[in-house]
Amino acid sequence: EINKKVESLLAKMTLEEKVGQMTQITLDVIGKGNNRYTSDYPLYLDDGAMKTAFEKYQVGSVLNTASGHALTPQKWYEVISEVQKNTLKYSRLKIPTIYGVDEIHGATYTDGATMFPQEIAQGAARNPELTKQAAAITAYETRACNIPWTFSPVLDLGLSPLFPRQWETFGEDPYLCSVLGVAMIDGYEGVNNDIGNPLHVASCMKHFLGYHTATSGKDRTPSYISDEALREYHLPAFKAAIEAGSHTIMINSGIINGVPVHANYDILTKLLKEELGFKGLVVTDWADIENLHKRDRIAASDKEAIMLGINAGIDMSMVPYNYEVFCDNLIGLVKEGKVKQQRIDDAVRRVLRVKYALNLFDKPNTNPKDYPEFGSKAHEEASYRMAAEAITLLKNEGNILPLKKNIKVLVTGPNANSMRTLNGGWSYSWQGDRTPMHTEKYNTILEAVQHKIGKNNVTYVPGVSYKEGGHYYDEFADKLDEAVAAAKDADVIFLCLGENSYTEKPGDMNDLYMSDLQTELAQKVAAVGKPVILILNEGRPRVISKFERQLKGIVQTYLPGNFGADALADILFGDVNPSGKLPYNYPRYPNALISYIHKPSEEQRAGEGVYNYEADYNPQFGFGFGLSYTTFDYKDLKLDKTSIKKGENVKVSVTVTNTGKVTGKEVVHLFTSDLYASSVTPDMKRLRRFDKIELKPGESKTVTFELTPKDLTYAGRHGEYILEAGEFEVMVDKLKQKFTVSE
Ligand code: IFM
Repeated sequence: EINKKVESLLAKMTLEEKVGQMTQITLDVIGKGNNRYTSDYPLYLDDGAMKTAFEKYQVGSVLNTASGHALTPQKWYEVISEVQKNTLKYSRLKIPTIYGVDEIHGATYTDGATMFPQEIAQGAARNPELTKQAAAITAYETRACNIPWTFSPVLDLGLSPLFPRQWETFGEDPYLCSVLGVAMIDGYEGVNNDIGNPLHVASCMKHFLGYHTATSGKDRTPSYISDEALREYHLPAFKAAIEAGSHTIMINSGIINGVPVHANYDILTKLLKEELGFKGLVVTDWADIENLHKRDRIAASDKEAIMLGINAGIDMSMVPYNYEVFCDNLIGLVKEGKVKQQRIDDAVRRVLRVKYALNLFDKPNTNPKDYPEFGSKAHEEASYRMAAEAITLLKNEGNILPLKKNIKVLVTGPNANSMRTLNGGWSYSWQGDRTPMHTEKYNTILEAVQHKIGKNNVTYVPGVSYKEGGHYYDEFADKLDEAVAAAKDADVIFLCLGENSYTEKPGDMNDLYMSDLQTELAQKVAAVGKPVILILNEGRPRVISKFERQLKGIVQTYLPGNFGADALADILFGDVNPSGKLPYNYPRYPNALISYIHKPSEEQRAGEGVYNYEADYNPQFGFGFGLSYTTFDYKDLKLDKTSIKKGENVKVSVTVTNTGKVTGKEVVHLFTSDLYASSVTPDMKRLRRFDKIELKPGESKTVTFELTPKDLTYAGRHGEYILEAGEFEVMVDKLKQKFTVSE
């Protein structure tokens, strides 16, 4: 049905109209905000600029918000329907625009939208149902703003804590990223990918492929990824998401093995479109065709860059400013035979298919009045629930937590009284620096603690600023002595450390240690002798080993969203039992950045005796770690067969009992290990399944998982998939069982 409509429309289109469909501009090209902080500012759409873009160049897509402003849903509706009206007015064939925004943890640039915990926190919550629900609510609130397309989810692996966007991933494990990525897509697009339903939006898998692994750790810098690693680690989440039907995909802005991905025919066409059979729309990242010339120097001119990118397999160029250069050159390239007409038709087909699937031809706008649940209590509760399941208890010496409510607390640290840091980047603005502070609706950590135990029991001293790149609060400097003095009068100290909000290049860093001033604050406050609970609020694990031993408790909140502080206070004072599990290895040293997925030689040195090496594999806290206020006992790890033939499944069951005094949720992780492999050295262990269960005190549940041949297959040295006979091991908690696979 859709394909017929696409073919009939395509047959009527001129080359100029086709190239327009391949062009995406940023809203600032046709309109500007006046840079005020509030959402009621006049947003100016320029009729002349719209005429040029939509009449002369037939531009078919717009992204972003003007000058980084957050708008109300009504204002969004007005802006986008005006853009849509002008697009349709100037389009001979009445082809609607497709508007896209980075709605990555809620309707990013919208006042009053429900902001959820960021992906890294969702990785810790390990609850696919909650992730799906968060995405469905985000889709609803996005459509309330007349936006049909979100640039989400991120399916890259959060392998490097140096990388400024690690928090935009579900963590470092390919399986975890696959499961939660698919859940998010189901939430955005609906279970049957029915994006014509105005409750759903088109999703965009990003950033294909191997972003987040920059060798230097800096955004958009080169990485070197073997075929084996590409397929074994980086591909699975994208493959699963493509199978789940995601409609669009955005490309990695970086360079892999010397070749910018935007110019890589092997990755974009051979792998993505041919081998994986992706039928959807391939969009560039910001200015990345232009970057092939201006930054990556793989093309000597803009024109050559356009030729390279489009011939590699790009369908739509997020230009975003110099669109005339893109359109004029691409038209010229087709006329000169340097870009084939079939390539243009393939690209336009993909764009039109998404526009038809979204039903934009029949219903080009959605109106906020049809979305009465925007920002509702029920939506807020879903955000709270996710935060409550994400927050991870990392240390609890002498069971200091949960605390009684009749105590005197000192709240200190630069993250203690900031909504901005709870949400992180892509919240009300690109860098998260326009997050509303101190509203009735949302609580900072300080405010949530005050509500919980009464203002009179809480002293607040900000202590120190971050004093490291990007944005910091200068006014906090030099209050360190005041914090130390206040610590003497407190029963317990909540030390709220971490990072300010950031994303992309502005978040690049040089030193993974917690910043110097924060480290000093931690050491001096702890030296007072009162119990210190460290509350981490950070996008990536900042190294805390210089003061970790002085702390009684550690709670990781990640970037828990607008209701994260309420969830935290409930955990600190025992109204919620924590159940989050680390989605990465928390490093102990900045130079020991080793994933839980690693080869045996990271852990053992054959034939060297039993020396105690300081540099042995020893993360501060491991992937999957997270304490509870109760205890769980694992027993009876059983396999239905201890010997299977290649191609057969094996069932694994384990019984988990709550042996403590309170109800708790536990994530049961099933890892496997291939003991010997003939092509490449196997990893020590790999996550294959997980399940989050709830148990009352004394209650037991038996959890059963089924492993398939895919779980035992690995990518060989040339990226070929290999399933070998041999011995394997399954691991659940501390239990292990072996089984063999034979020919
Ligand atoms: O979607 C984003 C991407 O993740 C980073 N660069 C800009 C894009 C559009 O805003």
